[in-house]
Amino acid sequence: MSGDARKTAEGLAYLSGFGNEHSSQAVPGALPEGRNSPQRAPLGLYAEQLSGTAFTEPRADNRRSWLYRIRPSAAHPAFARAGNGAIRTAPFTQAVPDPNRLRWNPLPEPETGTDFLAGLWTLGGNGDVAQRTGMAVHLYHATASMERVFSDADGELLIVPEHGGLLLRTEFGLLHAEPGHVALIPRGVRFRVELLDERARGYVCENYGAPFRLPDLGPIGANGLANVRDFMAPVAAYEDVEGPVEVVNKFCGNLWTATYDHSPLDVVAWHGNHVPYVYDLRRFNVIGTISYDHPDPSIFTVLTSPSDTPGLAGVDFVVFAPRWLVGEDTFRPPYFHRNVMSEYMGLIEGAYDAKAEGFVPGGGSLHNMMSAHGPDRETFDRASAAELKPQRIDDGLAFMFETRWPVTLTPHAARAEHLQQGYDDVWQGLERHFRPLH
Ligand SMILES: [Fe+2]
Repeated sequence: MSGDARKTAEGLAYLSGFGNEHSSQAVPGALPEGRNSPQRAPLGLYAEQLSGTAFTEPRADNRRSWLYRIRPSAAHPAFARAGNGAIRTAPFTQAVPDPNRLRWNPLPEPETGTDFLAGLWTLGGNGDVAQRTGMAVHLYHATASMERVFSDADGELLIVPEHGGLLLRTEFGLLHAEPGHVALIPRGVRFRVELLDERARGYVCENYGAPFRLPDLGPIGANGLANVRDFMAPVAAYEDVEGPVEVVNKFCGNLWTATYDHSPLDVVAWHGNHVPYVYDLRRFNVIGTISYDHPDPSIFTVLTSPSDTPGLAGVDFVVFAPRWLVGEDTFRPPYFHRNVMSEYMGLIEGAYDAKAEGFVPGGGSLHNMMSAHGPDRETFDRASAAELKPQRIDDGLAFMFETRWPVTLTPHAARAEHLQQGYDDVWQGLERHFRPLH
């Protein structure tokens, strides 16, 4: 299974660009020219629009795609409730919001036969899914490819693999995501996750709010941070499968299931800008100081989901990628701070430059609104005494989901065995050095 899938993943073709009006057809002549919904779509296909934003949202924000498919999505039986597993959804009201700094080890090994959906485990989140505000932090661990198909009406899914490659078979075509990549599945898009290795593990940001977009660059200019052309959308690829296929739909926090008599991944051609994509985080153009101090970590923003207040994101996705540190007379690791925003951090590989130990790949930390955090003692001592020559940070790839609202835990995250005890001790050894002048 994995050998075949690996072959499939190699040599995938992609369409380059973020937010572009892409188009693709798996069969010549499948894409109608000049109109979206001709009286008869080519090749006997059905035309269907998938709207990711309201029809009337401003052109710069508008997201929609036209799909040309073997059967319209409407051809399905009734959905019935299914168990939610360890998936939880906003509003998160079962646990008391916790001001403590918290850190988790990786999820324990899943049982054999756990697919991506069964292995989704919600850490917490904020907002209200019915109001389309806020986000959820999930982790996943899987040992089997999905045979069923999933779609999330509640939000878009930003998948951050930490271990194991994924082949994402979507309505729009195939995406290949390895650790170091992120993959985005837009709201409502159906997909199946297949494993390219024995096991897979990683993180998911479920964004209930406005779709992620690239941040504005202001004085940085026309280039930099995540570049438009490095976002890769799939080329059209379809399944022409008759026979029972389980389709799971997440709607307002619950999973619903139906057995179709055909695969819903039957889109032969499409055009539009409400599309899945992958992005290689190592393509991120890291910008920082070349004089002194360092900019706020917003300079590392890959994607942002804006809210109704300019500059105040529902959630930002931020990467701490390999880079040079050259600041003069500067404490170079992330500074001590308290933040009105709430920060969930994860580690894809290596180490993070503010923590000597305990923050491990597959684990994560939560520093909620106004919680005091920063480097641990060892990092502080080392960085305060270091000779300030150009320094390459290249042994880690960490990321952050930074959100305007506190993250409230699920009960199972608050009492998890892999929740570390004594995380506060990281900062306990910081000595007083204050010596008033007389
Ligand atoms: Fe922070």
